[in-house]
Amino acid sequence: MKYYIGLDVGTSGMKAMLINEDGIVKIVSREYPLSFPHPGWSEQNPDDWFEAGISAIGELVSDIDKSAVRAISFSGQMHGLVMLGSGDSVLRPAILWNDGRSENEVDYLNSEIGKDFLLDNTGNIAFAGFTAPKLLWVKNNEPGIFAKAEKICLPKDYVAYKLSGVFATDVSDAAGTLYFDTEKRRWSKPMLDILGIDEGYLPAVYESSEPVGTLKPELARSLGLSDSVKIVIGAGDNAASAIGTATLADGECNISLGTSGTVFVCSGSYNCDRENAIHSFCSANGRYHYLACTLTAASCQKWWVEEILKTGYDSDLSPYRCKSDVMFLPYLMGERSPVNDTGVRGLFTNLSMNTAREEMTLAVLEGVAFSLRQNIEIIKSLGVDIKKSKVCGGGARNRFWLQILSDALGIELEIPALEHGGVLGACVLAARGDGCDILFDAVTETIKPDISAKEYYDNKYAKYLKLYPLAREMSKG
Ligand code: XUL
Repeated sequence: MKYYIGLDVGTSGMKAMLINEDGIVKIVSREYPLSFPHPGWSEQNPDDWFEAGISAIGELVSDIDKSAVRAISFSGQMHGLVMLGSGDSVLRPAILWNDGRSENEVDYLNSEIGKDFLLDNTGNIAFAGFTAPKLLWVKNNEPGIFAKAEKICLPKDYVAYKLSGVFATDVSDAAGTLYFDTEKRRWSKPMLDILGIDEGYLPAVYESSEPVGTLKPELARSLGLSDSVKIVIGAGDNAASAIGTATLADGECNISLGTSGTVFVCSGSYNCDRENAIHSFCSANGRYHYLACTLTAASCQKWWVEEILKTGYDSDLSPYRCKSDVMFLPYLMGERSPVNDTGVRGLFTNLSMNTAREEMTLAVLEGVAFSLRQNIEIIKSLGVDIKKSKVCGGGARNRFWLQILSDALGIELEIPALEHGGVLGACVLAARGDGCDILFDAVTETIKPDISAKEYYDNKYAKYLKLYPLAREMSKG
């Protein structure tokens, strides 16, 4: 029997999974703090990730033949900036993907360096979430720390480095830095020159299923594992999730209805979106993908039912299905795709004396669905044919919401038998790095769009597209 371990270095905690050739053996998790030292900032301590990883691995292997563990790999929250100084000391807390402090640096990159230059050299424009604007923020605001930096890396790469002693990253995660040439799958020299960093500060780049080294002997000893356990570099969480849901071929799509909502669409060839805010990244299986990120998805529903209604659940919405005019724009934390606007905020429209609270709940679910539809339509306009999608993430447990999503998108949604996305993908990558191909592609249920709802959703979507300009005018930032 061969065992493989996946670690998902998430934002709210670490998920860890043990698989063998027959399937999932064990899943454990660890929480770690997330701090918001100023409004709009979001930071974590990189050593918390490492300690969570070590403790989770210990629990995973506690009752198996430890000598049969062959490889460990990763799925990681993308874009986070980790800076190390002399002796590999952590210079400051990591600045995470959902941190909005770098608005000025984003403006500088998109306006002064110019979107065309960025697109030509990286395949993407600047977003506050990406790594390059954060690096510029540190350069501008904490020059002492910037000057001390000797290594710069991403969250999962820090954990892999501490486990193996090898400073490495993979193409899918590197593509989210904005100093990586997505098409050529290597660091972008022109971008590194603009940021004032030497390539020697950066990890060596690998494909996601490549082993980069082995577990450090002292860690192997303390965990009771062999020191030939391979460290396979793994992927950014969305690319890892696509491996976990077997979203692998051209045009295949995976929607994640998590805190944020992402649309991941595979593409065999490279292309980038010059007009809107869709990302072009490398995939974990040697290909490319488009990624669109809706910053608030399941978190809108959570905000509405927990913070506003204070019920913690949705009431029965079916009597209002396809009947309501109430609309919601889900931009509670600004939006990334496709508007790239950190200052805009959400809206409810068409409220009347007769509006029922269920209609407002329905509008929240529909608003998120429309935001995903807008991103999917832009990706389709780039020449990708999207006929159906897998769907994962916490929000995907709400069947009523999935029907709305299927109706609003007009496509079938497949629910994978194993809903573990990123961490399962990390296990598959660990196995692949050890020469063992495991595929988890079973689907438990397919949700079909109801054609009688098409007219309602098409009309409402046309109106939804008019909400952003209104919201932009009303917002402060
Ligand atoms: C993708 C993105 C998020 C993070 C969250 O661009 O910012 O999906 O990776 O984990």
